[in-house]
Amino acid sequence: MSAQILDGKAIALELRDSIQKEVAAQVAEGKMPPGLAVILVGEDPASQVYVKNKKIACEKAGFNDVSMVLPAETSQAELLAKIDELNARDDVHGIIVQLPVPDHIDPEEIIERIDPKKDVDGFHPYNMGRLATRLPELAPCTPHGVMTMLAKTGIPLRGLNAVVVGASNIVGVPMALELLNERATVTVCHSATKDLPQKVAEADLVVVGVGIPNMVKGDWIKDGAIVIDVGINRLDDGSLCGDVEYDVAKEKASWITPVPGGVGPMTIATLLQNTLQAAYGVKA
Ligand code: GUN
Repeated sequence: MSAQILDGKAIALELRDSIQKEVAAQVAEGKMPPGLAVILVGEDPASQVYVKNKKIACEKAGFNDVSMVLPAETSQAELLAKIDELNARDDVHGIIVQLPVPDHIDPEEIIERIDPKKDVDGFHPYNMGRLATRLPELAPCTPHGVMTMLAKTGIPLRGLNAVVVGASNIVGVPMALELLNERATVTVCHSATKDLPQKVAEADLVVVGVGIPNMVKGDWIKDGAIVIDVGINRLDDGSLCGDVEYDVAKEKASWITPVPGGVGPMTIATLLQNTLQAAYGVKA
């Protein structure tokens, strides 16, 4: 049996539409549009694509786009000063620094300098701590986008055996916290995990975010499992593929996210949702 498709693209468009309507209503009442500052340091090609897509989404939603590209040689002190300046601006409600940053920049210090109320990536220890204590405010966009997609599709999570492959601060760790908060039983796997195929084979729900093309093999997937692929990898022929061997996995899963058109669009829609919340205190 072939899996049903978790259509992140359609769900993200619906969410972006309701965000756009909320912005229009707030602006009609005389409020400022939400302002989002995306800072890119250097010229990483993948980051350039993400930042361009964020900029387009931002403008379509009626946000004030304050994105900026800083030279690769920008120092830690200069970047901290830029964040201080954006923290102080009333027309900027969300600030994100696109990762990865060049090697001479310490990302932890940068993230901690962002005002937690403007931390629309949800990476600040304050926001990660709130998520871990079941008091989420601004939650990391990719995992929260996955939760929105599952909720809007009507997939219940309580009691499922969930396996998260990858333990990054951007995806794996907050994903595990989100699933735990919905009362799934969560296992987090990483590079030191023993017998990954066996762990994946026990999963009712598997979320993979490792950035390695086709790393999780389709025949590891349990019959009827839900498969969420966070990976977006560009192959030598220019095509995109995920971290899961899609063609085989889709014959075993009950639900699966495609790449592209699955998790990726949800990440951007959730960034807009977080910025809307930071600006007006409402959730779309
Ligand atoms: N790099 C890859 N994903 C992300 C993200 O969600 N936010 C930021 N700031 N950088 C990223």
